Amino acid sequence: MTGVTDIRAQIDALPGLDPRAPLLHVEDLHVEFRTRDGVAKAVNGASFHLSAGETLAILGESGCGKSVTAQAVMGILDTPPAHITNGTVRYRGVDLLGLSEQERRKVRANRIAMIFQDALSALNPVYTVGFQLGELFRKHRGLSRKDAKRRAVESLDQVRIPAAGQRINDYPHQFSGGMRQRVMIAMALALDPEVLIADEPTTALDVTVQAQIMRLLAELQRQRTMGLILITHDMGVVADVADRVSVMYAGKVVEEAPVYDIYGRPAHPYTQALLASIPRLDLKGRPLNVIRGLPPALTDIPSGCAFHPRCGYAREICRQEQPPAYRIAPHRESRCHFIREVLGV
Ligand SMILES: Nc1ncnc2c1ncn2[C@@H]1O[C@H](COP(=O)(O)OP(=O)(O)OP(=O)(O)O)[C@@H](O)[C@H]1O
Ligand code: SF4
Ligand SMILES: [Mg+2]
Repeated sequence: MTGVTDIRAQIDALPGLDPRAPLLHVEDLHVEFRTRDGVAKAVNGASFHLSAGETLAILGESGCGKSVTAQAVMGILDTPPAHITNGTVRYRGVDLLGLSEQERRKVRANRIAMIFQDALSALNPVYTVGFQLGELFRKHRGLSRKDAKRRAVESLDQVRIPAAGQRINDYPHQFSGGMRQRVMIAMALALDPEVLIADEPTTALDVTVQAQIMRLLAELQRQRTMGLILITHDMGVVADVADRVSVMYAGKVVEEAPVYDIYGRPAHPYTQALLASIPRLDLKGRPLNVIRGLPPALTDIPSGCAFHPRCGYAREICRQEQPPAYRIAPHRESRCHFIREVLGV
């Protein structure tokens, strides 16, 4: 059997792998779904990067391509109907899209992990949680049954599941929603990934449990100096845990900034609209601001800047030309023709 050291060595020996290169660098990613109803352009030139120990939030309305982007990074999109038509997904300098399926699977299992929104459907209902965790250690780390079981208990302990030694014998349905999400986190972290992608990890849970899970994730991320990509539409969660934010609209990152800039001085009309739509206790009784109009149909994305039909700043050029990414500061970019006006400078 191939040992863990061998697998790690094989990944480290991938041509082009540079330990000093950014942990993850996604550039100009395009994904489309070719269906009978037409071509849905779900991701249209998404770019972002992630460093070790950093939390990047990917924020945007439902349907803007957050999950498809994550699935493309993980290499778990079904082709057909999904087709990656352009772009690169570099892990420490190596373009994962250019690897063979076997190589990519190795990187995915050992270096990049993902937590899905729906823990129940991501776990296998017919096996105990201990068996499913143990299999990871047996298959990818070559551990004996006994050692794998010990590691499974340690993993559940790490995510603070009480009486882990007994709970490993339980089936997924015997766990509450919050505990199940903890099991998912334990599974994602079992092989010590450098990158963790958490796709709306708490939306199915009630508010108190959401906060506990987010705190746990943030703590584990700090302990391991892991890079965390947190996909969410919850601005509150973003404010609590993110270092940087990439705001997505119609499959593109329209603004990228450190979290305090996003809240303090948003540099894109869409980000401003998202912030204005957060309910505020101090404005109780006033009508809620909602972003006017609807996100575009992905089979018919507006020309020029895709946000123009909903944007209060829009002028003729916005209908004609896609705005380039303007760099405002070392880690700040915005795609808007009228960036100065939006910032009030
Ligand atoms: N298998 C598929 N076939 C066709 N279209 C798809 C498929 N999977 C996703 N899409 C389309 O891709 C678009 C982006 O979907 P995605 O799941 O990435 O949105 P999202 O930003 O994660 O939204 P949410 O916040 O609701 O999770 C959607 O409009 C969706 O309809
Ligand atoms: S480019 Fe034009 S439409 Fe797009 S966000 Fe800026 S002002 Fe609005
Ligand atoms: Mg999603």
